[in-house]
Amino acid sequence: MDKPVSEEQIESILRAAMASPSAGNMQPWEFLVIRDRDILDKVPELHQYAKMTLETPIAIVVCCDTSKKVREGFWIQDCSAASQNILLAAHALGLGAVWCGIYPNEGRTKAFQDLLEMPSDVFPINIIPIGYPAEEKEPSDRYNEEKIHINKW
Ligand SMILES: Cc1cc2nc3c(=O)[nH]c(=O)nc-3n(C[C@H](O)[C@H](O)[C@H](O)COP(=O)(O)O)c2cc1C
Repeated sequence: MDKPVSEEQIESILRAAMASPSAGNMQPWEFLVIRDRDILDKVPELHQYAKMTLETPIAIVVCCDTSKKVREGFWIQDCSAASQNILLAAHALGLGAVWCGIYPNEGRTKAFQDLLEMPSDVFPINIIPIGYPAEEKEPSDRYNEEKIHINKW
């Protein structure tokens, strides 16, 4: 699981992230790649559901710097699209990745801003630990016809 993720793989994942759609094509995302083992080991102290960083060689924090020009109300969706592309790109490279939510949980947001020395107007949306999966898992089939509405509700 701790097998290194290469620079090429990281660039390929970030290229996929930055290819995401965004409102008005504002691309309000920023990406913080954590490869420092001490920082990765501290993450579970701030986020009890992100213990994977104890084993993964890297994690990517998807952020929005709201001091730059962003579309109010849409930047979370934009950063979420980029996050999903990170998951898909990692999977396509044979890697495993998990979206671990941070924002809008206030305590977690502040804790990660402090750990990663971010200004208070940079919001960490999530942290995505990435590594080689310990086991292969079949994707679950969650298709549910009751969730589909045609023409009118
Ligand atoms: C906004 C958001 C926050 C999430 N936070 C966590 C988390 O903190 N820890 C975690 O293990 N998974 C987290 N997940 C992943 C979900 O738990 C996961 O997608 C769901 O259980 C379905 O599992 P699957 O994606 O492996 O099929 C999060 C997903 C989203 C979209």
